[in-house]
Amino acid sequence: MELVTTREELARARAELTGTVGVVMTMGALHEGHEALLRVAREQADHVLVTIFVNPLQFGPNEDFDRYPRTLAADLEVCRRAGADVVFAPSREEIYPGGEPRVRVNPGGLGEDLEGQSRPGFFHGVLTVVLKLFQLTRPDLAFFGEKDYQQLTLIRRMARDLDVPVRVVGVPTVREPDGLALSSRNRYLSEPERAAALSLSAALRAGADAAEQGGDAGVVLSAAHHAFGAGTPGAQLDYLVLTDPELEPGPVEGPARLLIAARVGATRLIDNMPVHLAPRS
Ligand code: PAJ
Repeated sequence: MELVTTREELARARAELTGTVGVVMTMGALHEGHEALLRVAREQADHVLVTIFVNPLQFGPNEDFDRYPRTLAADLEVCRRAGADVVFAPSREEIYPGGEPRVRVNPGGLGEDLEGQSRPGFFHGVLTVVLKLFQLTRPDLAFFGEKDYQQLTLIRRMARDLDVPVRVVGVPTVREPDGLALSSRNRYLSEPERAAALSLSAALRAGADAAEQGGDAGVVLSAAHHAFGAGTPGAQLDYLVLTDPELEPGPVEGPARLLIAARVGATRLIDNMPVHLAPRS
């Protein structure tokens, strides 16, 4: 496995990879969720290229950029064990040599909704760095987690709308045995906060169960709200919505997505689950 930090080193390492290249983009602090992406990438592509970059452009002024966990040595070990061929871990100056870019990718209306409402500019920052990393790594395949479902949807749409020649592959969310979705931010949670954080996955599970029992959108949402409220107190709900799989609002039937965001102490958590609604009669 080769570690590269400059765009010249990356270009040279990339040129040596023959066959298909799969990229896994991360901000480091790798956990089993990231490992699942690496595993799927290993299965589907001839070579795996991992990027590790805490992207300042996607953090708001009051967010956790400075305290975001940085664990490069451990991350490299995870990548090595997972069979990555190249890890690109650039500095901030390497990615943004002239300071913050003036031109950014506009995510459109969906970028202002859900996560975009609480985090203005977040998806401009995400899509801008993802597009830059697509240009620098030139992958055939790119693997993103369903955990960040709105991000995955917008990256898919960007690839389609802006003709980026890459196949975007979504990978299902990896959870703790008790249901909590793995996230680099879980390490901020105290013991009582972690208990409260279970309200998110419990709400989604209850919603998905209600759908399985034939519940319509209203029943699914009220089951999810009820389970959220019945959990350990301490989680403040931001949104709980049911959309179609492309995140379009409006009445849904058949395949749908249930998405939740909540604040637990100072930590904002998100989660989502596929649900299948019975067709309306
Ligand atoms: P990061 O939060 O490090 O996540 C990197 C990738 O891992 C994303 O595709 C994310 O959806 C996936 N992931 C995180 N937790 C997961 C879980 N529990 N199960 C499955 N996949 C999981 O997302 C980002 O970084 C950044 O926004 C990035 C795309 C790298 C751009 O800066």
